[in-house]
Amino acid sequence: MIRIGSIGLGGMGLYQARTFSQAEGCRLVAGADPSPEMRERFAKTFPGVQVYDSPEKLIAQPDIDAVVVAVPTGRHQRVASAALAARKPVLLEKPMARTVPQCLKLIEDAKKYDTLLMVAHCRRFDPHWKSWGEYVTSGRLGHPILWRHALAGFGPGSWFMDRELGGGPLIDGAVHDYDFANWIFGEPESVVSSSIKMDPSVTAIDTGSAVVRYKNGSQLLVSWSWSARGNHLHDVIGPAGFIQFGTGGLTPSAEEEAENQYCYFTDREGKQTLIGAKKQPDMYTHQALHFLACIRGETTCLSPGTEAIKAIAVAEAILKAGPKGRAVKVNWQPSV
Ligand SMILES: NC(=O)c1ccc[n+]([C@@H]2O[C@H](COP(=O)([O-])OP(=O)(O)OC[C@H]3O[C@@H](n4cnc5c(N)ncnc54)[C@H](O)[C@@H]3O)[C@@H](O)[C@H]2O)c1
Repeated sequence: MIRIGSIGLGGMGLYQARTFSQAEGCRLVAGADPSPEMRERFAKTFPGVQVYDSPEKLIAQPDIDAVVVAVPTGRHQRVASAALAARKPVLLEKPMARTVPQCLKLIEDAKKYDTLLMVAHCRRFDPHWKSWGEYVTSGRLGHPILWRHALAGFGPGSWFMDRELGGGPLIDGAVHDYDFANWIFGEPESVVSSSIKMDPSVTAIDTGSAVVRYKNGSQLLVSWSWSARGNHLHDVIGPAGFIQFGTGGLTPSAEEEAENQYCYFTDREGKQTLIGAKKQPDMYTHQALHFLACIRGETTCLSPGTEAIKAIAVAEAILKAGPKGRAVKVNWQPSV
C-alpha cells in the first residue's frame, strides 16, 4: 500500500487528493498547504488524514512514500526538488515548471537521488485524446498534419496571470497542447508567435497565438486567451482526412453520446466515422494508477520530466518569439 501525501490543497490539489483517496493500491495519508482555509477544507473532506502547514513538514515524515505536488507553477521546482532529495517519488502538476532552467534542475535532482519524477500531463492518460491521437500516429490522416486549437474565455485569475508564478495561458493552459503535440508529432523544432495584451492589469501575457513546427513536418496552430470570450475552434487536418470535435456534421445517437466522448474522422470522400474511447475512468484516475504502477516498478513512466521539459521549451520559445517577430528555435538543452 503506497502512502500518498498531497502538497498544495487548492483546486487541483484537492481533486488529485480525491482521486488518490479512491484509487486502488494507495492510501491518502497527509496534506500540506500554508493557507489555513485550504487546510480546513482538506481536513473536512478527508477526516483523520494528517495536515501540515508547510511542504517541508510533510516531506520530512518517514511514513509518507510518495507525494503529489499541486502548488503555483513558479514554486514547482523548489517543492518537488525537496521531495526528490528526500527520495519520495513525485507526481508534479503540469506545467513542469515556469522555466527551462527550473526543469533542468528537476531532471538533475531526479537523477541524482534516483527517484521518480512524473509530470501530470493528464492528456497523455485521457482515453478520448489518446484515441484521436492514434488516428494521427497510425497515418490515417496522411502526412503532414496541422492541428488547430483556439480557445478564449475568462481564465483563472490570481497567480495564474502573474508573469513569474503562472505565466498566463500560453504556459499554463496551452502546455496541454504542446505536450500532446510533442507526443504525437515528435520533436518540436521552432515557433513563430504573436501576442496581444487585453487586460492591462495582469503581468502575464493574456492572449497569444503561435505556430509550432515539428521536425517531422507537422504543425500545431494554437491561440489562447484568458481575457476575452470567444469560440472554441478545434480540428486536426491532413491530406487523407480530418478530425473534428463535438458534434460536427453528424449527430451521434443518444447511445453513442452516452457511451463515448466523441469526435469524427472524415476521409477525402467525405465519409464520416465516429471515433472516441468508450466511457472509462477519467484521465486523472488513469494518471494516478500509472504513477502508482511506476513506483512499484511495473511499468515505464509515460510522462517523465525528460519529456515534459520539451513543452516548457515550446512555451519559452513562444514567449520569446512574440516580441522578436521572427522564428525562435525550441531548445531544452543545458547551455554550455
Ligand atoms: N492538470 C490539470 O488539468 C490542471 C488543472 C488546474 C490546475 N493545474 C495545475 O495545478 C497546479 C495548482 O493549481 P490550482 O488550480 O490547484 O491552484 P490553486 O491556486 O487553486 O491552489 C494552489 C494551492 O497551493 C498552495 N500553495 C502555495 N504555495 C505553496 C507551497 N509553497 N507549498 C504548499 N502549498 C502552497 C496555495 O495556498 C493554494 O491552496 C498548477 O501548477 C496548475 O497549473 C492542473
